[in-house]
Amino acid sequence: MEILKPTKENIIFLAQELRKNQLVAMPTETVYGLAGDAKSEIAVSSIYKAKNRPSFNPLIAHYANIECLKKDVIFNDLAEKLASHFMPGPLTLVMKKNPKTKNICSAATAGLKTIAVRIPAHDIAHDLLTEFNGSLVAPSANISGCLSPVTAEQILASKITGLKWILDGGKTIKGLESTIIDVTEKIPVILRFGSIGDDAIRAVVGDLAYFNKHDKRQKINAPGMGLKHYAPSCPVRLSTDNPQNGEALLAFGNENIPQNFSFILNLSEQASIDEAASNLFDYLYQLDKMGASQIAVMPIPNIGIGKAINDRLTRAAEV
Ligand code: TXA
Ligand code: MG
Repeated sequence: MEILKPTKENIIFLAQELRKNQLVAMPTETVYGLAGDAKSEIAVSSIYKAKNRPSFNPLIAHYANIECLKKDVIFNDLAEKLASHFMPGPLTLVMKKNPKTKNICSAATAGLKTIAVRIPAHDIAHDLLTEFNGSLVAPSANISGCLSPVTAEQILASKITGLKWILDGGKTIKGLESTIIDVTEKIPVILRFGSIGDDAIRAVVGDLAYFNKHDKRQKINAPGMGLKHYAPSCPVRLSTDNPQNGEALLAFGNENIPQNFSFILNLSEQASIDEAASNLFDYLYQLDKMGASQIAVMPIPNIGIGKAINDRLTRAAEV
C-alpha cells in the first residue's frame, strides 16, 4: 500500500487505475472510503474481498454532482427536498435504482432493486470523481466489523488486502459516516444515524420514521444494520465513569472525570457533540493501539449527532 498526496498528477493517475479495476482509498468528509468502479463486477468483487464483507451487504455509490446521480436512480419529490438541503454532504439516500442504468453492476447493490447514493462534500473526492467521470462505490475502508478509518495512516496499518493506493486527505472533518435515509416510501426512514442529526432532517421533511430491526411490519430492507460493527480489537464497556485497572477510558465533558487515571482520552472537554463525533473513531484507534484490555466509555448525551455516536458505540460493544 502506498499513500499518495492529492496532486493533480496523482488524481489523473488514480482515475486511470480505477478504470483498470484497481481500488483507491479515498478521503471524504465522513470517513475514508474504499473506492472502485461501480460498473465493474471485477472491481466490486475485490472491494468485498478486501474488506471481508458479506456479499449480501450493498455498497454506497458516490457521485461528483446531482446530474450524474440522477441518471442512476428513480428520483422523487422527497429525494429532491433532501438533496437540495443536504447534497453535497454527509447524506446517503436509498432510492429505486434506474433499471436502465449501465453504470452500476448488480454486485454493487447486492442484487437489490434499490441503491444507496451520495455526493461527498470533499474537494479531493470531488476531483477524483470528476476525473474518473463515473460513479465510484465506496464502503468505509476498514475490514468488516472494525473501526472506520479517519486517516490515511489507519488504512496503511490495517489488514485490508488487494489495495495499492491511498489518496491522502488528512484527518476527515466529520469523523462519522453519513446519515442514511430510505426514501422509497411516502415517509422517509432513517436507516443509519450519522453526521446529520435527525432533528435537522425532520425540519426538512416533517414526518420521519426509524428503522427497527425487531419490527417485522417494516418493509424496509437494511441488510447492514443488524451486524456487530465499528469495534476496536478489545471489548468496549459503555456508560461508566469508573474505569477499572487495565481499562482505558474514553471520556466526555469536564464533569466526573476520574482523577489520577492516566489511560484516558477526552472526546470533548467542552462537551461538544460535534467535536466528540469527529474524534470518536480516531480516539478508539489510539486507545486500542495503547494496548488496553478493555475500553470504558463515559455516557454521551443522546441528542443530535450524539445518537450516531451512541449507535456506533452500542454496536461496538455488542458481543
Ligand atoms: O459516510 C459514508 O457513508 C461512508 C463514506 C466512505 O461515504 N461510507 C459508508 O459505507 O459508510 P458502508 O459500506 O460502510 O456503509 C453503507 C451502509 C451499509 O450498512 C449498507 O448495508 C447500507 O449502507 N446500504 C447500502 N445500500 C443499501 C440499500 N440499497 N438499501 C439499504 N441499505 C443499503
Ligand atoms: Mg462501514
